[in-house]
Amino acid sequence: MSLLIKNGRIITAVDDYHADIFIENETVALIGKELKIDADNVVDAKGKYVFPGGIDPHTHLDMPFGGTVSSDDFETGTRAAAYGGTTTLIDFAIQTQGQSPLEGLDIWQAKADGKTAIDYGFHMIITDMPDRYLTDLKVLIDRGVTSYKLFTAYPGVLYMSDGMIFNTMRKAGEMGAMISVHAENGIVIDEIVKLAIAEGKTSPKWHALTRPTRMEAEAVHRTIAIAELAESPLYIVHLTSADALDEVTMARDQGLPVFAETCPQYLLLDLDHYGDEGFDGAKYVMSPPLREKWNQEHLWRGIQTGDLQTIATDHCPFRMEDQKILGKDVFTKIPNGAPGIENRMSLIYNSGVVEGRISLNKFVEITSTAAAKTFGLFPKKGTIAVGSDADIVIFDPERKETISVTNSCTHHMNVDYNAYEGFDIQGLSETVISRGKIIVDDCKYVGNKGNGQFLKRSLFSE
Ligand code: URP
Ligand code: ZN
Ligand code: ZN
Repeated sequence: MSLLIKNGRIITAVDDYHADIFIENETVALIGKELKIDADNVVDAKGKYVFPGGIDPHTHLDMPFGGTVSSDDFETGTRAAAYGGTTTLIDFAIQTQGQSPLEGLDIWQAKADGKTAIDYGFHMIITDMPDRYLTDLKVLIDRGVTSYKLFTAYPGVLYMSDGMIFNTMRKAGEMGAMISVHAENGIVIDEIVKLAIAEGKTSPKWHALTRPTRMEAEAVHRTIAIAELAESPLYIVHLTSADALDEVTMARDQGLPVFAETCPQYLLLDLDHYGDEGFDGAKYVMSPPLREKWNQEHLWRGIQTGDLQTIATDHCPFRMEDQKILGKDVFTKIPNGAPGIENRMSLIYNSGVVEGRISLNKFVEITSTAAAKTFGLFPKKGTIAVGSDADIVIFDPERKETISVTNSCTHHMNVDYNAYEGFDIQGLSETVISRGKIIVDDCKYVGNKGNGQFLKRSLFSE
């Protein structure tokens, strides 16, 4: 099968030019001006941008959490991602306490195998690292899982002690793997939560008010220090606040291999979304929580200066009707997480490029290229170049939509609300191509379940 994309404006993290792209056998075979070549299928991209497919390096599909399971599985979640122009995701497999990480990986591979619309890889959430499991980390790498997520939050669930964090980081550093951290001081937060509940403060907004930014910044600071001693690279996931960003900036200024991601929700939604005492705020119960609005300009500045490298979604959807409602009496029982996998590219294009905060090249860098480089997928993914996988988005920069759970161009996620309901966006992924095959064509999914392949990722290299 071959495909010719004609007349598009190709944008990568560094290039911006008009050319045609010829795709054969799932990869880009030729790029040139006015190519005269026969192809099985021709797409005219005149007036459109041609971007590398989006890469979302932080999703939780089919994840047991908070007494339920995230409502998108690998079929519905990857299809929704495809609609939005994301052609690769890296989800989190989980090692539960007392289990080998390899067993955890087997479970997640079985969940995804044969189901996905797009290519995918796994990070491994490590919750337990006695000496006998340290050698399993090497096997994970051989199986293409080259990054691990550790939690300083959620005591009793995913939390890891500083000692275990240090040991795991040392091993990762030795092998060249990447460590990512969910940085919030869960031990102190649990005490603040107890005080709030004792005072009858139980509505969703108290989820946010009991998780102050100082406790995010403290955990960022601490894990940077531990990673420095352990000689491990460190990637802070879902960074939300100016306080926490300052810690990352300081470390990077010292030349430490510290990286960070933020998410659209922290750039575009804020503390006011929790409302007052009603339950609607449960839609935004996620950890870390939404912050005071003034933090957003600091995060944008971090993106502009390069201290924040990637924008992921942390997609972890729970339906209001039968899942978020588990916490109707007390916020601690609301499953933590929010949907977003489908809207990332349009939201960031609109708020970043259209609103004049970032260039087109930067847009590609933060939504695709940087994640590919950080997580061992570049240049197979994350760019448009001869030999790269033909994961390509033909993006209409003029197309306007209002994001809504009822809009068939903006919502296919298996969840009964959209966190960005009513947002007007300009810019939509019109044609989405995964390894040379068109899988989305003007708001219609034309791919097949199981098109996606598991990606064995390389080690981190700076
Ligand atoms: O609230 C969130 N973020 N849920 C997903 C799990 C995590 O902490 O990333
Ligand atoms: Zn997290
Ligand atoms: Zn997450």
